[in-house]
Amino acid sequence: MNLIMFGPPGAGKGTQAKMIQDKYQIKQLSTGDMLRGEVASGTDLGNRLKSIMDAGELVSDEVIIELIANCISEAECEKGFILDGFPRTLHQAEELGNMLGHMARKMDHVIVLEVDEDALVERIRGRAGEAGETRSDDNEETLINRLKVYNDQTAPILPYYEERGLLRKIDGMLPINEVTAKIEAILDA
Ligand code: AP5
Repeated sequence: MNLIMFGPPGAGKGTQAKMIQDKYQIKQLSTGDMLRGEVASGTDLGNRLKSIMDAGELVSDEVIIELIANCISEAECEKGFILDGFPRTLHQAEELGNMLGHMARKMDHVIVLEVDEDALVERIRGRAGEAGETRSDDNEETLINRLKVYNDQTAPILPYYEERGLLRKIDGMLPINEVTAKIEAILDA
């Protein structure tokens, strides 16, 4: 089973993807986590990525598509995967479709978590205030741009998946466990 967990920053994509990974034994592929890993390694590429991510902009399609192409062909994705943070542009969505086609695989569901913008801001503020390592893009200024980039470049992908009959919209304002139950109902149907 192959899924996309879709939604704006702070919608709960990562939270839900981890739970689905554990229950269904399919691999979570978080492009944000992978990129933060590269930044933490302090390579030249990592340094270039950091300035893009700190500004709340998107990393180039070329870099991200190569990353995903490598991951989904790994043995750990054989039983399926949950894309968390990818695709984010129409070009990424089309390239993903091509990749899956070449591998004779398909996307099963695109799960969209719908959350009010005010609640997103509150959630990111809450996460920034939590103990542990704070993400350098979890600040007011960057968040405003992350939301703008989502609305301008990422949300326009939705009709692409709607036309293909794959979109499943979920009320992401519900408590975490209720969102999980709704996702599971879709996956188990
Ligand atoms: P990425 O890491 O993907 O960040 P994001 O999309 O902004 O999403 P977040 O991780 O902030 O939120 P989430 O939806 O996972 O929510 P979470 O579960 O954490 O990307 C970071 C950057 O990397 C991008 O800006 C870009 O630069 C680059 N990048 C990544 N992918 C790319 C791509 N494909 N192309 C180009 N560039 C790319 O939850 C948030 C908080 O809310 C948590 O504290 C959580 O506990 C809480 N919460 C979750 N669910 C609920 C709920 N139902 N009720 C109450 N609280 C909740």
